[in-house]
Amino acid sequence: MTGKIYVVTGANKGIGYAIVRGLGQKLSGDIIYLAARNISLGEEALKKVKSELDGKLNSDIRFHQLDITDESSCKNFAEYIKKEHGGLDILINNAGFAFNMDATEPCDQQADVTIGINYYGTKLVTSILLPLIRSGGRIVNVCSKAGIMKDLYSDSWTQRFMNDVYTESDIDNFVETYKKLAKEDASGKGHKRKEGGFIESAYRVSKAAEIAYSVYLARILKDRKIIVNGCCPGFVDTDMSSHKGTLTIDQGADTPIYLATDPNVSNGGFYFERKIKEWL
Ligand SMILES: NC(=O)c1ccc[n+]([C@@H]2O[C@H](COP(=O)([O-])OP(=O)(O)OC[C@H]3O[C@@H](n4cnc5c(N)ncnc54)[C@H](OP(=O)(O)O)[C@@H]3O)[C@@H](O)[C@H]2O)c1
Repeated sequence: MTGKIYVVTGANKGIGYAIVRGLGQKLSGDIIYLAARNISLGEEALKKVKSELDGKLNSDIRFHQLDITDESSCKNFAEYIKKEHGGLDILINNAGFAFNMDATEPCDQQADVTIGINYYGTKLVTSILLPLIRSGGRIVNVCSKAGIMKDLYSDSWTQRFMNDVYTESDIDNFVETYKKLAKEDASGKGHKRKEGGFIESAYRVSKAAEIAYSVYLARILKDRKIIVNGCCPGFVDTDMSSHKGTLTIDQGADTPIYLATDPNVSNGGFYFERKIKEWL
């Protein structure tokens, strides 16, 4: 019995669901929160995972509502966790969003929504739960290889994240500059994002920011003995990939679960297939 508290965001389906299921199979005596923004989808998923693990579950799985972009939802969850458990040990930031490849929304709108969820949402829920994460705890951010910056951005953008002094406002400035240029592109001003040293995809920029945030958090939380890593789950068969992904959700959950549970993981890395991968 370890009695640790795990939280998995965006866990009603896809990779998040498989992370909860995988943790349920692996852990003993812990509590895993299957967090989801939609109450009925979350409760359905809880029922499903419990029946799938029937007889194989040595931990408790519980549902709680959590919308990572909604401050009151995040605060409400934090208060509940504090009251119920005094704190938490492992936060797996899995919730994420991508427009379909054939989406017709203008690029500035895609930028606002995608960066709003993947970067600002991840930051919001993390900052609200952070005071509750106990020493020895971990944060795992499910980012993506789409966030690899090497050879895709101007040197000035990649170099910004190559030192160990950059701050959250440097990452904010990176995404806000992209959003501003996307707005100009949407109003027909040419190729401002490209000229500004970015690639076009808002999803890629949001995931680059999420990796940068993971590395930053690892640095500032070292003294609190909290390990933080980002990772890519691979190309997974989920709604997000329009079911074109070649991996099962369990295969996609493997690296996040490894980073959440293995005693030998390092700190501040970007992982793919359980190995550190260069991203700058
Ligand atoms: N699939 C891939 O090939 C792939 C590759 C690389 C990285 N990833 C990353 O892996 C993570 C999981 O993706 P997936 O493929 O499993 O996608 P998915 O099946 O579309 O699931 C995404 C999950 O995130 C939730 N979510 C979205 N916005 C949220 C919010 N504001 N608050 C709380 N939850 C929210 C969704 O909830 P609703 O059901 O309510 O919408 C859903 O539960 C994402 O971060 C994604 O970027 C996926």
